[in-house]
Amino acid sequence: MTVMVENTKVEEGNGPAKIETFDDILPYVGEASRYQWFLFILLLPFTFVYAFLYFAQFFLTLVPAEHWCMIPELNHYNFTDFEKIAIGIPPATNEELKLESVTSFSRCYMYDVNYTELLEQGVRQANLSWPIVRCKQGWTFNHTMITYASIATELEWVCDKTFLGSAAQSAFFVGSIIGGLIFGYIADHYGRIPALVSCNAVGFFASIATAFCNSFWSFCVARLIVGSSFDNCFNVLFIIVIEYVGPKYRTLVANMSFGIYFAAAASLLPWIAYWIADWRILSVVTAFPMIVAFLGPWLVPESARWYIMSGNIDKAIGMLKKFAKVNGKEVKQEVFEAFEKSCKNIIEKDQSHNQYTVLHLFKLPRLARITVMLVIYWLLIILVFDGHVWNMKLLHPDVFTSFSIASLTELPAAILLALFLDRWGRRWMGFASMFICGVFSLIAIGTPVGTLTVTMAILARLGVNIAANIGFQYAAEMLPTVVRAQGVSLIHIIGYIAHIVGPYVIYLADVNQNLPLIVLGLLSFFDAFLTLALPETLDQDLPETLQEGNDFGIDQSFWWIPCISSTPKLKKSLRKKKKEGMTNAAFHHGSIQTIDCTRL
Ligand SMILES: *[C@@H]1O[C@H](CO)[C@@H](O)[C@H](O)[C@H]1NC(C)=O
Ligand SMILES: *[C@@H]1O[C@H](CO)[C@@H](O)[C@H](O)[C@H]1NC(C)=O
Ligand SMILES: *[C@@H]1O[C@H](CO)[C@@H](O)[C@H](O)[C@H]1NC(C)=O
Repeated sequence: MTVMVENTKVEEGNGPAKIETFDDILPYVGEASRYQWFLFILLLPFTFVYAFLYFAQFFLTLVPAEHWCMIPELNHYNFTDFEKIAIGIPPATNEELKLESVTSFSRCYMYDVNYTELLEQGVRQANLSWPIVRCKQGWTFNHTMITYASIATELEWVCDKTFLGSAAQSAFFVGSIIGGLIFGYIADHYGRIPALVSCNAVGFFASIATAFCNSFWSFCVARLIVGSSFDNCFNVLFIIVIEYVGPKYRTLVANMSFGIYFAAAASLLPWIAYWIADWRILSVVTAFPMIVAFLGPWLVPESARWYIMSGNIDKAIGMLKKFAKVNGKEVKQEVFEAFEKSCKNIIEKDQSHNQYTVLHLFKLPRLARITVMLVIYWLLIILVFDGHVWNMKLLHPDVFTSFSIASLTELPAAILLALFLDRWGRRWMGFASMFICGVFSLIAIGTPVGTLTVTMAILARLGVNIAANIGFQYAAEMLPTVVRAQGVSLIHIIGYIAHIVGPYVIYLADVNQNLPLIVLGLLSFFDAFLTLALPETLDQDLPETLQEGNDFGIDQSFWWIPCISSTPKLKKSLRKKKKEGMTNAAFHHGSIQTIDCTRL
């Protein structure tokens, strides 16, 4: 990888150092050197935390698709499962036949007869005319593929109670909204490190507590608390790392660290679940990466921007000196002096942004329209992403393998983005990725159940992975600087609502087996065309004021594709842009207001 190539092009000695923003001082202390490498590696355990938190519950609540009524009377005989089913379980009802991953026998009904009497008479085969009844004494599960009993199997969240698994998942994401507010407050008032440590501590203890749950309600409460740490447990550090990396390397570092680590963590998780084969132990084991956070105060550098914002300019400079020392850079005292002077300007500029609220996004009509479209765009991406994740539950035969491979698509997604996003532009690449997602979702329906369907679903997932990463920076680039942080937070929070709804997408299968994929496919198409209605942000000047945000991209032609054509005017702004050498607003902090935004 070429990310961390030492940058030696710092012009020193030519008059007084010109340092206007935080990013200006980074080259002096080393912008992609030893300390940044350390931070890059430090992200590893925290990305594992993120992936484990996000997906562990999937495996804590996994239920084998094949289950049938338990009939205790039959246990006195030496019957195989097939023999038990032959005598006790009626064929699937019409209603059940419409369901996902159909079994030939009923999963929720049994014959209502006196088995003791019948068996004594030598009856071994059921008679279709016998009366049927809902399972009376619990269920038997086929554990061939899913070798362990999850909490959902133990508490029998099947048939009428299937939705409990999704309800618990929603509780998790409700928790993450609450946690976002609490830890966001801590991060702003007490510092990023206290937020990171407390957030991970809460997640750690609540994950351990999950292992002791014995009922739906206790599980929900535990998951709600675990959920409160979701996203901030990783996001706080992610933002710190991105801040300390020079602007030129930000897109690459952000994409590659997330792409590599997240793909590794998420594709490993199914096998951890498989080998542990016990949901309680799994819950404890997936909590372990969070322990690293307890070393946070000694490992993680506090955000220099936070120090500046809270008036501790000395501490910010101390932190930068530490960077310079580790990176082996000699920095003249006057550089820090120049920086100290400009800090006041930075703070002032920041405070002038503070008078803006989320409502300012809706003051001007075109900006309001763009904001609403961005919200819908992001909402649909999350819905489709989560829909595809939870839909894996329906895509047997082997959920562990398919989940693992689907997660690996995160890596090619990151590579494709690193290669093409700054050439093809956000708009057409966003369109293409969601369009591909839609196409493969619909093809998946037409293919025979089995490996082929799973392959199609995985390709669809690749599409939505790419789109999600684009969406991440799209909004940050399109919203004007004065309301950027507020706008991105708004979109982020509304995204959680999609997370809450996401797990229910699979219940569309109760109406029709193909409905989840049809809906995901259509939503993808809708989202793809919505992207085309948004302006391109590649090689454009970032809008600063509300008015600039309102007029942003108004002169762009619909068919404009950055790598193929550009009008003279666009070429001009392109040149301007190139000089600044900045492309990615999501990772660029013109001010010290951080953008509270992460991937999904
Ligand atoms: C019960 O099944 C086991 C294994 O299939 C077999 O070894 C045993 O002989 C059977 N016992 C009876 C009473 O049928
Ligand atoms: C349980 O699942 C395995 C693998 O899918 C299958 O071979 C077996 O026949 C199933 N058993 C029953 C009783 O359906
Ligand atoms: C089933 O039949 C047996 C033997 O005829 C009888 O002892 C038992 O009470 C019956 N069970 C029920 C639930 O009716």
